[in-house]
Amino acid sequence: MSKKETAHSIAEIIVGRRTIHEFRTDAIPDENIIIKAIDAARWAPNHHLTEPWQFYIPGQETIKNIIELNSEIVAVKIGTEAAAKKKQRWSRMPGWLVVSCDRSADKLKMKEDYAACCCLMQNFMLYLWEQDIGVKWSTGDVIRDERFYDLLWIDPDTEEVIGIFWYGYPEEIPVTVRKPVEQCLVKLP
Ligand SMILES: Cc1cc2nc3c(=O)[nH]c(=O)nc-3n(C[C@H](O)[C@H](O)[C@H](O)COP(=O)(O)O)c2cc1C
Repeated sequence: MSKKETAHSIAEIIVGRRTIHEFRTDAIPDENIIIKAIDAARWAPNHHLTEPWQFYIPGQETIKNIIELNSEIVAVKIGTEAAAKKKQRWSRMPGWLVVSCDRSADKLKMKEDYAACCCLMQNFMLYLWEQDIGVKWSTGDVIRDERFYDLLWIDPDTEEVIGIFWYGYPEEIPVTVRKPVEQCLVKLP
C-alpha cells in the first residue's frame, strides 16, 4: 500500500523521510510531479518575500557533463579509481535537480535567504516522500567549482548553488537515528 493510500500524517512524513542513497533504476518519477513539488515547496517561509531560489533541470547532455566534471575533480583530489566509481554511481542517479540561492552583499539577507532555501527544499523532499519518491541532497565539491556554474549557465556573482538533488524511487530506505529530544531542550525559569 502506498503512503498516499495510508494517508500518513504530516508528523509521520517528517519522521519517516530519509535521505535516499540507492534508487531504483527501472522507474523515474514523471517530471510533472517534480514541477508540482517545486511549485508547492515555494510556499516556504522567506523573509521579505524575497523568493531567493532558482531551479535547474539538467537534460541528458548537461547531466553527462556534470558527471564528467565531478569525476575529473575526484580524480585530482582522491585518484582515478575513486573517480571511476563515482562516475558509475552518479550515472545511476535517476532524477536530477540543481537549486541555487540568490547571492547578496548583505550578509544577513544572504543568511536568511539560505535559510528560506533550506525550508524550501525540506518542503520539496516531504512533498515527494508522500508520493513514495526519495531525494538525496548533495553538496560535494563539484557544486562549488566554477566549471559547474558554466555548465548550468549560472552566474556565480548573483547566485550560489546550494545542492544537487537526486530523486527517484528508493531501492533501499536507510535507518538513521536522532538523539533523545531532552538532549536539545533547555528549560528556563
Ligand atoms: C545542507 C545539506 C547538505 C547535505 N549534503 C550531503 C552530501 O553531500 N552527501 C550526503 O550523502 N548527504 C548529504 N546530506 C544529507 C544528510 O547526510 C542527511 O540528511 C543526514 O545523514 C540525515 O539523514 P536523513 O536525511 O535520512 O534523516 C545533506 C543534507 C543537508 C541538509
